[in-house]
Amino acid sequence: MTAAVDVQRYRETIGHFATGVAVVTAHGTEGPAGMTANALCSLSLDPLLLLVCFERSARTLPMVKQSERFAVNILRHEQHALSGVFASKAPEREKFQGVPWRLHEGAPVLEEALAWLVCELRETHAGGDHTICVGTVVDMHYRPKGQPLVWYQGRYGTLGDEVPAEANFPN
Ligand SMILES: Cc1cc2nc3c(=O)[nH]c(=O)nc-3n(C[C@H](O)[C@H](O)[C@H](O)COP(=O)(O)O)c2cc1C
Repeated sequence: MTAAVDVQRYRETIGHFATGVAVVTAHGTEGPAGMTANALCSLSLDPLLLLVCFERSARTLPMVKQSERFAVNILRHEQHALSGVFASKAPEREKFQGVPWRLHEGAPVLEEALAWLVCELRETHAGGDHTICVGTVVDMHYRPKGQPLVWYQGRYGTLGDEVPAEANFPN
């Protein structure tokens, strides 16, 4: 690897791609598990597919494989502290302490999230030091109001001003 394409430069460069922040959850035999994630995207509309990239060492990954279900809980901007908790290696029980959640279609959904999607695990693919999990969306929900938590250049943020309506993608 040359200096121009080392890991640090890659992180800094790809960090210019602003994303939302989600807590991806699964329910194992020991209870709920979850981790903060932004390496996720919508994959297909027919069928409805979503993908999430898990570090191979993520403790949530075996729970997803075991239960064959996962939920993507999209965070509100007020939930940055929750993002920190789920990005940690605290015991799973601690991560969920004081966090309202319920099991829905086999996956834990966070009651206070901006939106959630429950997926049935359809495929896994190796992707370098990550595992790509492709899920079929089985149910979803969003709040009518609320603002997303944003991740940009390694920091949390909120949405800035919207661009003028005429610049938006037509429906
Ligand atoms: C903003 C943010 C985004 C993250 N995105 C991902 C991701 O997409 N995939 C991943 O495996 N880890 C991601 N992480 C790191 C995990 O949250 C972290 O490794 C966590 O400790 C995993 O928890 P677990 O081992 O209990 O599953 C992210 C962390 C932060 C702060």
